[in-house]
Amino acid sequence: MLMNKKGMSATVALFLVIYSCSSVVKTTQSTSNRSKGLKDYYKDYFDIGAGGISPRMLHGEDSALIVTHFNSLTAGNAMKMGPIHPSENEYFWKDADEIAAFAQKHGMKLRGHTLCWHQQAPSWMFVDAKGDTVSKQVLLQRLKDHITTVVNHYKKSVYGWDVVNEAIDDKDSEFYRQSAWYKICGEEFIGKAFEYAHAADPKAVLFYNDYNTENPKKRDKIYKMVKKLKESGIPIHGVGLQGHWSINNPSREELEKSIQMFASLGLQVQVTELDVSIFGGRQGGQIIQGAGQTTSPFTPEIEQQQRDKYKMAFEVFRENKTKITAVTFWGVSDRFSWLDARGGKNYPLLFDTSRQPKKAYWDVVNFTPQN
Ligand code: GLA
Repeated sequence: MLMNKKGMSATVALFLVIYSCSSVVKTTQSTSNRSKGLKDYYKDYFDIGAGGISPRMLHGEDSALIVTHFNSLTAGNAMKMGPIHPSENEYFWKDADEIAAFAQKHGMKLRGHTLCWHQQAPSWMFVDAKGDTVSKQVLLQRLKDHITTVVNHYKKSVYGWDVVNEAIDDKDSEFYRQSAWYKICGEEFIGKAFEYAHAADPKAVLFYNDYNTENPKKRDKIYKMVKKLKESGIPIHGVGLQGHWSINNPSREELEKSIQMFASLGLQVQVTELDVSIFGGRQGGQIIQGAGQTTSPFTPEIEQQQRDKYKMAFEVFRENKTKITAVTFWGVSDRFSWLDARGGKNYPLLFDTSRQPKKAYWDVVNFTPQN
């Protein structure tokens, strides 16, 4: 047997070389598994978006998580009417531009959110210099100016817009939400908003976006409104199901029905603001139990219910991949959620407060692809 200077046999040396090479291979594999993100598991299905994005999240640890797991972004506030258009002759682009630049740098898509909403609209929009409510004509002109300017500004970066957000009322007794837009313009502002957006960027995919889209009564109203818009030739291309859900709802049946109903109108469906609140109370717009808690409400039982809801939802999404073009979460990890301010610390996302994948994450990515 050949021996080297230190007395090691050539066979042993060969074994060590092979062993160390194989451990290099192992390390590379586990690194690539680690860097495989949600978007990669879903590459044959739909885009996976991170929403509720602020410029601050584009630096440091959130940014690494975003780049690994998501291939689409939605700004939290930066593109909303109030923040981006604080006074009649002033636009504030900086925050939204930063988000657009980040998306471009990392080859991510960008959703525009949102061109017309009853919340976070600037108060100047609805009044004249004397403080009197403006006429329908003036308000529609202002809406047109706003939409034309914002859509033009992001024409190269935004592929689709939430044009009108939450125009339908939750109460059975009302059809349209009695917002300032509705009170001044009637339902016409909705179709007009789509027309203005389409004129500014004919290639943009235009969405109506709302919450409680799985509630049968609200869903029927949304369906009727969208159908009427389509039949009137209004350029609307999709419906956004916000997806502010909870451990208690929606059911599989209602979710499937919503996707199928909206898709039956020839529209694409996106889930635009997904989170699963650990409190069972109503979400999206109002909320929720949980205030005053002293121990963590994220108990093993609640965790299991949340896992079940996420697993069910993604099964339904995958089964409907021809109808769904993107699933966007509202936030990236449980470190921060908008729900925290509504009834106590919440844990609604797929990454924990240390930005590590939760069990629900593995439920969502461990699936057998079907054709
Ligand atoms: C709605 C809006 C979002 C966001 C959430 C709560 O769903 O569409 O932009 O404001 O409420 O954060």
